[in-house]
Amino acid sequence: FNTFVAKNEPMPTYSPGTKERNLLDACVASYECRIRDIPIVIGDEEIRTEGERYQVCPFDHERKVARYYYAPKPVIQKAIDSCLSGRKAWERTPLAKRAEIFLRAADLMSNKYRYDLLATTMLGQGKNIWQAEIDAGAEIIDFLRFDVQFAREITEYKPISPNPEELNSIKYRGCEGFWAAITPFNFTAIGGHLPMAPALMGNVCLWKPSDTALLSNYLVYEIYREAGLPAGVINFVPADGPVFGDTITASPDLAGINFTGSVKTFSHLWKQVGANIETYKSYPRLIGECGGKNMHFVHSSAKIDQVFYGAVQSGFEYGGQKCSALSRMYIPESMWPTVKENLVQFHKQLIVGTPLYGETFMSAVIDEKAFARCMSYLDYARKSPNVSVVAGGRCNDSKGYFIEPTFLETKDPRDKLFQEEIFGPIVTIYVYPDAKYRETAVLASKTSPYALTGALYAEDKSVLDELSEIFEDSAGSFYINDKSTGAVVGQQPFGGSRLSGTNDKAGGPYYLLKFLSPQSIKRRT
Ligand code: ALA
Repeated sequence: FNTFVAKNEPMPTYSPGTKERNLLDACVASYECRIRDIPIVIGDEEIRTEGERYQVCPFDHERKVARYYYAPKPVIQKAIDSCLSGRKAWERTPLAKRAEIFLRAADLMSNKYRYDLLATTMLGQGKNIWQAEIDAGAEIIDFLRFDVQFAREITEYKPISPNPEELNSIKYRGCEGFWAAITPFNFTAIGGHLPMAPALMGNVCLWKPSDTALLSNYLVYEIYREAGLPAGVINFVPADGPVFGDTITASPDLAGINFTGSVKTFSHLWKQVGANIETYKSYPRLIGECGGKNMHFVHSSAKIDQVFYGAVQSGFEYGGQKCSALSRMYIPESMWPTVKENLVQFHKQLIVGTPLYGETFMSAVIDEKAFARCMSYLDYARKSPNVSVVAGGRCNDSKGYFIEPTFLETKDPRDKLFQEEIFGPIVTIYVYPDAKYRETAVLASKTSPYALTGALYAEDKSVLDELSEIFEDSAGSFYINDKSTGAVVGQQPFGGSRLSGTNDKAGGPYYLLKFLSPQSIKRRT
């Protein structure tokens, strides 16, 4: 622990015929023929309540992959009490010991469970092999290892003691109370990271996973336990969202919420905390990562090849369901004919289908709700006189929730397609007069209420400087001549401001400060 330096986890290619690919295919097949039973876990106790529920494959909705149960209010309360009863013992466990557990979990993920993590993410969340690897293979391991290193670094600070008769120190305590991690479907890595980060820093936590990511998330939970995480430090509590939110925010012991999900839910939680503020023992801390309306802004000096590749990857990988995904693009008039031609050609080559075998590029969106939301934007596009379909636009939910990757063009840069988050494979383009790049950039920086990711494509140095300044406040994670997705832990700490969240930058050191409540001690000798 004292000398541990994290490195990003190498990623196998899974090319057909390789050992890794054969092992992965076999692992996927083993999950295909069973339905995993996933209990609520409180301490060492597994709980199954009435009313079974099922997680299904997004690309084959008749196929069940997991059976699970919702925790009602008294069970959530029991999970809170269980966490709190072990809080002091866990907080007093030295950081080095807590870190050892998560480093062991990272090794288990890398060496023993990698194919299981990928298979469960592919089957349950509809990721193709490569998307599953960058998430449930490499990223989750990176979060664990880098957080361990960051935790040591941020707790190395010692205050000075200039007077020989006094010794000043800091005790790096966790927060009094319990944390709640409310996690999304779109990254198994985020699912695992949101409860792990507070736990590493000495806190106890309830983990409410997404209903549509239970299969992979429960495996992550089991790995934490196998690595030595004591019972009750993290309790695994699938539940109805509003019931969970209402129960935790009504508890006087709430120490914080680590949330990734929609603006609507995060705002609701914040309001609940506000309404109950006088009832808490400490002010709860709120960390939120809530989506975006991410743009690629292309200047006429950009390298045109980078523009197509970037658009297709960022807009459509994992069906546009990364919070960082491209959803609005600005293209100069002079480039548009070539860009359009290439986007249409690329589009024809994209393989959409089952993510399990072959080299599928994109699969179905996560569920019925996501399908209906994408459909409604496509309907709007078809009816709007300002909008035309450049490529794609079809939908089919007969077997899975399939939305074709779609490029739209709008004549109105204030179109709702440029303001509202769609969270699906739909990218809207606005073509602007080359000379008006500055005005268009100013408009682009203000059009959406979000500020998560953004990318600027330009080779002209003075334009880069000028536009980077304009975009300073409109993206928490900004890319120059690269696509807006794919932040790597330890390399591009990730997060956004405005409606996108509290910009606490997961994958960087300062994130972990949120989970500490240090005690400063002066001792006279
Ligand atoms: N970390 C993910 C990305 O940057 C969300 O794409």
